[in-house]
Amino acid sequence: MSPRKGERRAKRDKPTKARKGPYTSNKGKGKPWDKKGSPSPRKSSDSKSPRDRGDSRDRSGSRPSRVSRDRGDSRGQRPRPQGFRPTRPGDSPSGPRFGGKRSEDRGEKSRFQGVHRIEGKLATKNSSPGYKVYDEKLVKRGRDEYRIWDPYRSKVAAALAKGLKEFPVREGSQVLYLGASSGTTASHIADIAGTVWCVEFSKRMMRELLPVCEKKENMVPILADARHPWEYANSIGDVDVLIQDVAQPDQAGILLNNHDTFGFPEAMLSIKARSINSAMDPKKVFATEIDKLAPRFEILQKLDLAPFEEDHVLVNLRQK
Ligand SMILES: C[S@@+](CC[C@H](N)C(=O)[O-])C[C@H]1O[C@@H](n2cnc3c(N)ncnc32)[C@H](O)[C@@H]1O
Repeated sequence: MSPRKGERRAKRDKPTKARKGPYTSNKGKGKPWDKKGSPSPRKSSDSKSPRDRGDSRDRSGSRPSRVSRDRGDSRGQRPRPQGFRPTRPGDSPSGPRFGGKRSEDRGEKSRFQGVHRIEGKLATKNSSPGYKVYDEKLVKRGRDEYRIWDPYRSKVAAALAKGLKEFPVREGSQVLYLGASSGTTASHIADIAGTVWCVEFSKRMMRELLPVCEKKENMVPILADARHPWEYANSIGDVDVLIQDVAQPDQAGILLNNHDTFGFPEAMLSIKARSINSAMDPKKVFATEIDKLAPRFEILQKLDLAPFEEDHVLVNLRQK
């Protein structure tokens, strides 16, 4: 069951713990950043994330404040997704039409906030110009630099390329990312959103994620197990959007547990059939997982990610 309104409000009112570099739930077991050559953990006083600055303006200073962000009105209406426009005539079945050559040349925005189309490819405006996360191509357009977003390396990019109709990540969004790995997708999300809380339980991946979080100051590394959200609950504030990409047998259960704790209104879940049951028909696996979510979430869209990822779907969810 989702948390009751009173409980969620009480949790939101709770002061967020002072942040001291990457959060970890395995105190005393050694930290990946202790290794020689790894970046030292960020101190809360060094951080310039919107949360730590005590305001919610983005790097460009143009982001709407958290208070003014559209979360629905006082009559309890559902927040209206910003940046979403209904499918337009001319959109191809394989994906949305992002604009003609003229807009591509300027790296113009697509229908979704922060998602651009350059040379026919998806891209985000690089919040750390000159810095590459996974050897992606960097493209200059005027004063801005864009990072080409590879749908073969990122399931969120694959979903956008396959015709995602609503993209819950918006400028200023507070995103909880489960299974951040080395930060390939999380870094593109960080180019768009306000804060990205990056949960990853592999120390090896965390070692690769840390330098990315050093460069992208709105990415917060959290060394923890996504199956135990209570371990990082005190390190995280309000969550607007959950993005989950963990190869685990109970993928819907992990999302629901995190929803019990954080009560996010929107989520994108990547389901990998083989991690749940390699013997069962993937379609049955997807249907079983989605059935578990349906009582609590509206299933906005279910996208097969082939040919970018085989036997994967991305499910776009909104809390009922
Ligand atoms: C497929 S990779 C994620 C790729 C990443 N989302 C991207 O697109 O850049 C899955 C990641 O989830 C992590 N993972 C798996 N189970 C986890 C758990 N229970 N808690 C936290 N991370 C987990 C793995 O260590 C791995 O790095």
